[in-house]
Amino acid sequence: MRPPAALRRRLLSWYARAARPLPWRRDADPYRVWVAETMLQQTTIAAVLPRYEAFLRRFPDLRRLARSREPEVLRAWAGLGYYARARHLRQAARLLAAREGGWPRDPDAWRSLPGVGRYTAAAVCSIAFGRPCAVLDGNVARVLCRLFALRGAPKAPKVQSRLQALAQTLLDPRRPGDWNQAVMELGETVCTPAAPACPVCPVRTLCAARRAGAQGRIPKPGPRAAPQTLLLDCLWIERAGKVLLWKRNDRELVLKGHWGLPEARRVRARTGPRLRKVRHAITRYRVELSLRRGALVGAPPPQARWVPRPRLGDFLVSSLWRKAADFSILER
Ligand code: ADE
Repeated sequence: MRPPAALRRRLLSWYARAARPLPWRRDADPYRVWVAETMLQQTTIAAVLPRYEAFLRRFPDLRRLARSREPEVLRAWAGLGYYARARHLRQAARLLAAREGGWPRDPDAWRSLPGVGRYTAAAVCSIAFGRPCAVLDGNVARVLCRLFALRGAPKAPKVQSRLQALAQTLLDPRRPGDWNQAVMELGETVCTPAAPACPVCPVRTLCAARRAGAQGRIPKPGPRAAPQTLLLDCLWIERAGKVLLWKRNDRELVLKGHWGLPEARRVRARTGPRLRKVRHAITRYRVELSLRRGALVGAPPPQARWVPRPRLGDFLVSSLWRKAADFSILER
């Protein structure tokens, strides 16, 4: 395929006009870009925006993040979900801070870091270092499937490798960071999954799906994994203004390594009436939490800890616990 000059020109000039002033676009500082792209991996821009600046105030640079303690980072990640990203970000910061020669500029070096996959490596290297690495995320895949009327499911391995090659061919090597962000931006604001805004699309005349009137049927939806229900039967055990919390281990299905309310099966307790029922989606699980009052029998097990009520907010980071524990209790 010939490098598509018209496509590049139109999309980049649209991006120069239409790019949203997102906080990580202010400059191409590698730390700010890396944090943003990590947050954006599984979270929408709308959900990232209010938390991004707060995270950067707490951890303004690589050295500060490298010196952090994990619970601090998890707390600053509160509400973003997929907490393994926060843990990996901190581990990678420690490795990067100990590295000689400053920031790596090579995507393979980035990919050797915890939590950095193909997407993040390509995004950081193109945006912060101008390296010609094409990004392929869900938005880019949808835009390319429509532009070229690819009818397979984008997640299918064959279609994925076709899309990756296509993305690399289209990438403008003179402005790889802008190019990648322009394609993502088009997917987020114009070429949206349902009801794409074709009349205002800067590349509508180059779009094969639109020509065929098939933009509503492309890309083909992939098979959806059925969400699994996970029942958590938890206890609110309180004594003299302190609440018993439980450190979840690394083999749990959700919220590994988090402090949480203890599950009834983990502690010896007399149980009382139900306080509330909460539903919350975590990764692919639909969690149904039932919270009952409990009274501990004997000494607390080693994984448990009494935490004064006013400090609960420091420990109960996930939105699941914030829903379960009455918010007025968590406010300092
Ligand atoms: N989605 C993820 N990263 C993005 C970026 N840098 N610009 C636009 N959308 C994005």
